[in-house]
Amino acid sequence: MKVTLSVIKADTGSVGGHNRPSDAMLAKAKEQLAGVISSGLLIDGKVTFTGDDIALLMAHTKGVDHPDIHKFAWDTFLETTKVAKSQGLYGAGQDLLKDAFSGNIRGMGPGSAEIEFEERPSEPFIVFAGDKCGPGVFNYPIFEAFANPYHNAGLLLAPEMIAGFTFTIMDVNNTEADRVISLKVPQDYYDLCILLRDPNHFVIEMVVENATGLQAAVASTSRLHNIAGKYVGKDDPVAIVRSQKQFPSTGEILSPWALAHLTLGDNRGSHHVAVMPVKQNSIISFFDGPTIMSAAGYCVHEGKLTESVDLFDQPFWDLIRTKAAQKTLDIRAQGFYGPAMAGMDELEYTGVIQNLKRLNEKFTVRKHE
Ligand code: 13P
Ligand code: 13P
Ligand code: MG
Ligand code: MG
Repeated sequence: MKVTLSVIKADTGSVGGHNRPSDAMLAKAKEQLAGVISSGLLIDGKVTFTGDDIALLMAHTKGVDHPDIHKFAWDTFLETTKVAKSQGLYGAGQDLLKDAFSGNIRGMGPGSAEIEFEERPSEPFIVFAGDKCGPGVFNYPIFEAFANPYHNAGLLLAPEMIAGFTFTIMDVNNTEADRVISLKVPQDYYDLCILLRDPNHFVIEMVVENATGLQAAVASTSRLHNIAGKYVGKDDPVAIVRSQKQFPSTGEILSPWALAHLTLGDNRGSHHVAVMPVKQNSIISFFDGPTIMSAAGYCVHEGKLTESVDLFDQPFWDLIRTKAAQKTLDIRAQGFYGPAMAGMDELEYTGVIQNLKRLNEKFTVRKHE
């Protein structure tokens, strides 16, 4: 059976700062979801949260970019915004950047990752959801899992994977239209590295297996400051990654997160910290962070979703959480200097420009005799 998985997420308000949605907001989202499961729009669905972002995981047969699915997600986020407003929550409706729905949720604020495939007899997949980070947070771990045999020797072991994968990369600074490039590994390995090293500009949108043509991974690519023209909140992306058999195993997909790589997005979207792999439904705390990533494993069968397995809820990740906290403390000790904060291209969307303009006028050019 051909099934579509859509994950659409948004921050529509949170308790106690940019922390977590309220129980009433989550109850509203679940009620909406139950409504469209019984009406038949969806076969199945789940509501989760990561930090202050609510994610709707939807299984259906409508294909990607379907207006009814996108409209349902948009309307649900309008409803959770109403709840947030009624409770006086912070940032109510934060990620809803357009007034009226116009057929597709992309470009309106919420992030979306969607994938359509013919179900395998067993169809395991992972939903990653991040808070306090941009979509480039996936560049390192997805590259490691699908392109780097030094990290993932499984790429050399499975007969389907030896021919490599094709990465679709989005230029997220191009606001007029989707500007994309396809690069194959192993052929274009270095070219891919050249782009992925700049995760605030070039981000992985999709990974397809060369030997089978099967889509293995999709990630959301929305950049809120490009839509709003100013800093309104961080992008906080989601990704869907299929695993096992002709794809990397679940463990091979998870293991790159053990680096706790440094990424941009903490506190006002302006600081670099280490990504902490967290249990589902985790909140954020230190310095409006640190950047967190949750991973939920499922199987889907005839469009029905199993319960999730909370993939970072295992003692191994306690060590990585400690490491992420230490790396975050180390870079935070550097305050506002150099790489501790975002570069000017990112800070442009914040109030820093006004302050620089004011100071610029006070500069004098020294005249030499
Ligand atoms: P199975 O033999 O159960 O598929 O597991 C093998 C594997 O790939 C684990 O990494
Ligand atoms: P969110 O994008 O998660 O709302 O975070 C915004 C922020 O600036 C926190 O400091
Ligand atoms: Mg928020
Ligand atoms: Mg958030």
